[in-house]
Amino acid sequence: EKIYIGVDLGGTSIKVGICDEQGSLLHTYEGPTGTEGGADEVLDRIAQYVRKIVSDSTYQWEQVAGVGAGIAGFLDLASGTVLFAPNLGWKDVAVKQELESRLGLPVAIDNDANVAALGEAWSGAGAGLDNIVAFTLGTGVGGGIIVDGRIYQGFRGMAGELGHIKVVPDLEAIQCGCGQLGCVETVASATGIIRMAKDAVQRGESTSLSLNETITAKEVFDAAKDGDEVAIRIVKRASYYLGKAMAAVAVVLNPQRFVIGGGVSRAGDVLFDEIRKVYVQNVPEVFTQGVDIVPAKLGNNAGVVGAAGLNLKQRS
Ligand code: BGC
Ligand code: NA
Ligand code: ZN
Repeated sequence: EKIYIGVDLGGTSIKVGICDEQGSLLHTYEGPTGTEGGADEVLDRIAQYVRKIVSDSTYQWEQVAGVGAGIAGFLDLASGTVLFAPNLGWKDVAVKQELESRLGLPVAIDNDANVAALGEAWSGAGAGLDNIVAFTLGTGVGGGIIVDGRIYQGFRGMAGELGHIKVVPDLEAIQCGCGQLGCVETVASATGIIRMAKDAVQRGESTSLSLNETITAKEVFDAAKDGDEVAIRIVKRASYYLGKAMAAVAVVLNPQRFVIGGGVSRAGDVLFDEIRKVYVQNVPEVFTQGVDIVPAKLGNNAGVVGAAGLNLKQRS
């Protein structure tokens, strides 16, 4: 019996999981990323966590069919290199090669949101559907396009960077980590939501939100649910630009389902109702028929499950 290891590399934590051939998640392990030590240390840590999860399980190292890793950044698939990952502070890191030499196993890498989309398509909210598009709302905004059960990669592997669709008009736009102005990520990521809340408090607007360093996106959503006008406006702004981005994606790809995951998506109805409304207002009616916008099912595990699946479904 073969097992498949998935790694979800984020800015704050590394999550590792063991899956069987059906995509069932059998074990998980999570540890800090520790980006301050640089890429080499992070890669060492990944190898260490992978060895640990296998040795702590009832499985043998020989049963591992392969390791898949989802990484939050722009990748070049042919060379297995991370070209640029602003949230990790990485440039040109040969992740595939470095991990293969540390582990002595085949390693497949892909973008974190691409693998989350694959996980949802495999055993989550997109199971059984051929065409889905996923958005992940976290520190950044990620995207993944699944066509006929596979990740759509584009020329180098950078397709599906949906967080960098430019939707905010130039006059209101701020700069994104990618260097461009007005990306969806600037208003719909946790980082963007927190920034808008801090700005409003600083401008002296009347709100229950307070200007502390530890304010979270969740507090903004909770305040919106409690009727705070400023928080409601922020949530509407995030939803508005997400809905617009989805409308743009719909006419290009015509997915059957949009799956929204990541920490911010736990906001629930305040977010989803507004996104659905804006989406419907911005596409020709036929693009609303048979199409839905739903929360991710695998929650925080979509990344590890999809990453494990890279060795199973993708490049066989
Ligand atoms: C990065 C993506 C990543 C997303 C979510 C964005 O800033 O450009 O590659 O998928 O954040 O982590
Ligand atoms: Na992506
Ligand atoms: Zn951007």
